[in-house]
Amino acid sequence: MKKRVFSGIQPTGNIHIGNYLGAIRQWVPLQAAHESLFCVVDLHAITVPQDAATLKAKIRELAGLLIAAGIEPKASILFVQSHVSAHSELAWILNCFIPFGWLGRMTQFKEKSQKERMVVSAGLFTYPALMAADILLYETDLVPVGEDQVQHVELTRDVAQRFNSVYGETFKLPEAFIAEAGERIMGLDDPTKKMSKSETQPGHAINLLDSPDDVRGKIMRATTDSLREIRFDEKRPGINNLLVIYEVFSGLGRPEIEAKFEGKGYAYLKKELAEVVVESLRPLQDRYHKITADPAYLDSLLRDGAARARPLAERMLNKVKEKIGLG
Ligand code: AMP
Ligand code: TRP
Repeated sequence: MKKRVFSGIQPTGNIHIGNYLGAIRQWVPLQAAHESLFCVVDLHAITVPQDAATLKAKIRELAGLLIAAGIEPKASILFVQSHVSAHSELAWILNCFIPFGWLGRMTQFKEKSQKERMVVSAGLFTYPALMAADILLYETDLVPVGEDQVQHVELTRDVAQRFNSVYGETFKLPEAFIAEAGERIMGLDDPTKKMSKSETQPGHAINLLDSPDDVRGKIMRATTDSLREIRFDEKRPGINNLLVIYEVFSGLGRPEIEAKFEGKGYAYLKKELAEVVVESLRPLQDRYHKITADPAYLDSLLRDGAARARPLAERMLNKVKEKIGLG
């Protein structure tokens, strides 16, 4: 039996190389050995205010980027969360099994609720219940995510266990799966902060759809330090971040990279890095433009993905309803 993989990504903001290296790129090789589901989590996106037209466009943009990055919509199940209503239904049920205190301890909620200038929605608070529903509906074994999401996967396990202990074996306990290199890409303008979709300063993130000149400009302006030596050192976040990005895009080992840049200046490192990034993004961008040139085809792929996800999700939802005495 192939193990099952599930992951989700929000259709908000601009998808950057942190999302790509920390998440999307890790998904691609998993497809061969696993049964994979990849979900555009639009219901998670609306936990904070969204403009309707922008959200609609972003859902398709993200689906196009995922395919361009190597997600195969025929081999895997690629779908939009709101197209499969079982996600909302199970999320409600799980909400009723998750102690309030667990949600209050979630780091992402604490951070987001402090940052949000608008009223913080109840949905933002119960966001992990929806994420748990996503994962548990499909008897998922592995959840590839960046380290910031591990706490949510732990909560998913905890609620699954809690439910199972009351109603008997129902949910499979999933495990987070974290990439080894490049799991945390930092902002170019401030390498002490994670590269994030919600930061809007122009030099913060390299987006997957940035032009070559934008990529070069952002890398050349990246914050470094006043030392000289180029080597991997977490105590020097600026240089370390550039080297990690180089490492993951070039595929070279750390000793090789340090040897390559020995005695060289930061400007040289930045130039070399910019070229590696531009050349790595080029084929992805070409594929993206091809796929999104035919929106009707892209929509048909997503409809097909939802049609394949739905029976799996409904089977689990019905089992849960049966156990708790609904309907
Ligand atoms: P988000 O941008 O928060 O919606 O995250 C989407 C996915 O990308 C999640 O799996 C994150 O863990 C991952 N991710 C987001 N930002 C980064 C980053 N700076 N470095 C590595 N992974 C990231
Ligand atoms: N919360 C995740 C994030 O912000 C996205 C997500 C939603 C997800 N549902 C998921 C990730 C299920 C993995 C599995 O990145």
